[in-house]
Amino acid sequence: VNAMIKKLFLEGKIVTVNTELSFESAAEIALEYNYIADEEEKVDIIEELLKDEEDPEDSLSPRPPVVCVMGHVDHGKTSLLDAIRKTQVTADEAGGITQHIGAYVVKANDQRITFLDTPGHEAFTAMRMRGAQSTDIAILVVAADDGVMPQTVEAINHAKAAGIEIIVAVNKIDKESANVERVKQELTEYGLIAEDWGGSTIFCPVSAHTREGLDNLLDMILLTADMLELKANKNRLARGLVIEARLDKGRGPVATLLVQKGTLKVGDHIAIGEVSGRVRAMLDHKQRRLKEATPSTPVEIIGLNGVPNSGDIFLATKSEKEAREITDAFKTRGKENLILDTKRGMSLDDLFNK
Ligand code: GTP
Ligand code: MG
Repeated sequence: VNAMIKKLFLEGKIVTVNTELSFESAAEIALEYNYIADEEEKVDIIEELLKDEEDPEDSLSPRPPVVCVMGHVDHGKTSLLDAIRKTQVTADEAGGITQHIGAYVVKANDQRITFLDTPGHEAFTAMRMRGAQSTDIAILVVAADDGVMPQTVEAINHAKAAGIEIIVAVNKIDKESANVERVKQELTEYGLIAEDWGGSTIFCPVSAHTREGLDNLLDMILLTADMLELKANKNRLARGLVIEARLDKGRGPVATLLVQKGTLKVGDHIAIGEVSGRVRAMLDHKQRRLKEATPSTPVEIIGLNGVPNSGDIFLATKSEKEAREITDAFKTRGKENLILDTKRGMSLDDLFNK
């Protein structure tokens, strides 16, 4: 230790016996003493706990596609979803800007499609990333009178990074200034080339206002979903993602979950990060009570002991004990990270790289 402190001192680095060296600095020193340093592989307990075994092929059955609607602010994402659901969400929203990810199930040709509406504001980029991860197909909404805008490009990048199919919905074709061909031309730059331009991306001209093209859009979603052969095992403990969560005055923590695998049942023990609980009641997107939710179904649940983060993985567990093991691991990691952050504040790298 003395030799090393001296050596570092001569290099102009003032350290004590308690200073933590980064792996890189330690490896450098080790090398001078003719040792090759090996970084110890840390077993991540949380990763172990959240690990998902592949379900055997014969346990899988078809599941509905999960579709997210992405695009630039005001290009008509919510209006389009409204038109598809034939309801009115935009009207109640503050300033007509979507503040959260809503989840809805729509029936088309007797098949179910789960839609996630994602906010268009730049501030919600992180949330939208999570939105993309939970999705099979992205509907990229581009206003025909406005064309490709910064968040259109952002949405394309997220969808590509997540490896999900993109269907382009060219919206607002009822407008006089609409120019579908210009949108097609602009999107070629991002590798989205329409079939009539020699590519393979599906473009659906639509109007959320006149409802023109909506049936075609739904058909194209189902066609794409068929191609993807989406399947999941519904006969196992559920797992999936938190779409959104909040504290409700009367009901306590309320979370919207997207079941991705297995079946979530009322009474199930559940763990989500540092939060756990038991599914006391479950509501579907129309606020109807449900007893069970199968893969690709979004549900609102109550019965948690806290508000989980959106984007977190939820796991139904065999017992309360198992749920608590998971939340304990998360809590421990939370504390460790805190300690690490404080320690990092005094690391050599920090001291000398400033
Ligand atoms: P954010 O959630 O803020 O990102 O917006 P959004 O993409 O959800 O857009 P929204 O549905 O709120 O629509 C924005 C505006 O465009 C509203 O004034 C809508 O009435 C209008 N709009 C949406 N679709 C159409 C359409 O097909 N035709 C016309 N003419 N206007 C539309
Ligand atoms: Mg919206």
